[in-house]
Amino acid sequence: MMDKDIERRFVFAADLAREAGRCASRYFRDRSLAVTMKGQNDPVTTADLEADQLIAKRIAEQFPEDRILSEESGGDPANRLWIVDPIDGTQNFARGIARYAVSIAFYWNGTVMLGAIYDPMADELFTARRGGGAFLNGSPIRASEISEPKSALVEAGYSLKRPLADYHALVGRLLEAGYNVRQVGSAALGLAEVACGRIDGYCELHLASWDVAAGLVLVEEAGGRTSDFFTGNGLTDGNFLIAAAPALQMHLHEVAERERYPAELPCPIRS
Ligand code: IPD
Repeated sequence: MMDKDIERRFVFAADLAREAGRCASRYFRDRSLAVTMKGQNDPVTTADLEADQLIAKRIAEQFPEDRILSEESGGDPANRLWIVDPIDGTQNFARGIARYAVSIAFYWNGTVMLGAIYDPMADELFTARRGGGAFLNGSPIRASEISEPKSALVEAGYSLKRPLADYHALVGRLLEAGYNVRQVGSAALGLAEVACGRIDGYCELHLASWDVAAGLVLVEEAGGRTSDFFTGNGLTDGNFLIAAAPALQMHLHEVAERERYPAELPCPIRS
């Protein structure tokens, strides 16, 4: 794939994230919003489904040879793959909490090449292209320079896919190490905030690729570090994740890694 092909997709992804965000937002705090549960604490709304259909339609129009892996409509691994979460933070959205985002990434030959995360409530568009930097509304962003856990704010996302005791232990160790810890319901926005230095790290015992693909390239292009999410079957089955400001990466890794599951998987830090 040529540079111009990636560039075309980069521009397209940014526009599409905005368009899908506006589509979803029409339903925000709509009392007649239809919410169904896919599982425990795992809602899906009319807004997720409409935004998902819009994204699929636009990709099919512009790049008919590409494939899609989406939280709402599924998909299979492919060489040219769009990884899509039409609304990350659906639980917030469904409860009228203004913290959710559209996340769109393009994955080629085993690498996330670009990502776009749009927060419609703040009108913030985070974009990154591999080797081309990370941006917020077009201005360059960098991960924070914080190196002391006692000055750091990190998010520890909660996944129902891992035992509650492991999450308790993880949060306990982070607090004991001095980190300020929060959990606010959108991994995509958490990673975007690591990329622009608003928070210093994000970890979660299990996430799906659509939650994190765009955020990973954002953090890496902003000078942050991430664990090797796509190792093993990360693309299809999800994985453990740590993303951090560069000077915190080793410490956060040491503290969080003890909760990794399954323990035998390697979790190298990418630079
Ligand atoms: C969820 C959010 C949440 C994270 C969960 C994800 P969804 O995604 O990113 O912050 O903790 O693990 O499933 O369901 O809102 O797209």
